[in-house]
Amino acid sequence: SGSASAASAPLADKLPQDIRGKGKIRVGSDIAYAPVEYKDSSGKVVGLDPDLAEALGKQLGVTFEFQNGTFDALLTGLRSDRYDIAMSAMTDNKNRQEGVDPDTGKHVGEGVDFVDYLTAGVSIYTRKGDTEGIKTWDDLCGKKLAVQRGTTSDDLAKQQAKKCPKGKKLSIEAFDDNQQAQTRLRSGGVDAVSADFPVAAYAVKTSGGGKDFELVGEQVEAAPYGIAVSKEETQLRDALQAAMDAIIKNGEYQKILEKWGAQ
Ligand code: ARG
Repeated sequence: SGSASAASAPLADKLPQDIRGKGKIRVGSDIAYAPVEYKDSSGKVVGLDPDLAEALGKQLGVTFEFQNGTFDALLTGLRSDRYDIAMSAMTDNKNRQEGVDPDTGKHVGEGVDFVDYLTAGVSIYTRKGDTEGIKTWDDLCGKKLAVQRGTTSDDLAKQQAKKCPKGKKLSIEAFDDNQQAQTRLRSGGVDAVSADFPVAAYAVKTSGGGKDFELVGEQVEAAPYGIAVSKEETQLRDALQAAMDAIIKNGEYQKILEKWGAQ
């Protein structure tokens, strides 16, 4: 129940009063990105992010309530106060910090602050035994790639498409969630999927008992994952940072990363 004692929630007084009063933090997340966040067979929200959130919640004396949303709409949801934070394997990058649309370079809204917690690169995977010689991003020219809309994979794909020679177009199919991109790969509609390394590696390992997919080439663009917080919510941001520091210090953070194969 909401009223945790100071002993069990040592950092509770760092939170903004309203959140402390409600006893919960509303988390926007696209909960279809295993193993970082997904629903298990019983429909429970599980993964690295939910486990970290639970550990942070113990420090802060609140529960983190995951609310499913489309990845590409999470920052809009944060700006319109639908969520208090976004925690969704979200890469901390300059465009998001500044509220810039990567396609147009135009300012589209308030930027966000991030509390960083993990580093991940971007990978490519194909059907197993059917790599079509794809090893690097340049090899995608002349091929079909599926990505999740609004992700760093989507950004990279668009940048790559501009570099492809005429007659060797990279055709990109963007989907609302990564599951759909993967389904498209399985059915032969595309040659490859790009997603974050932890997610691609997990799909390769688990899908079809390890027989469906394979990773190709090396990860690129290693960058931090961060919890996104509105720029005005500096107190919330600092409280989350203090809680993150605490779970790194007490070893819980490391345990969670190991549990999900992220370290
Ligand atoms: N890290 C990538 C990004 O921030 C992909 C994140 C996708 N997350 C998700 N829950 N679907 O763009």
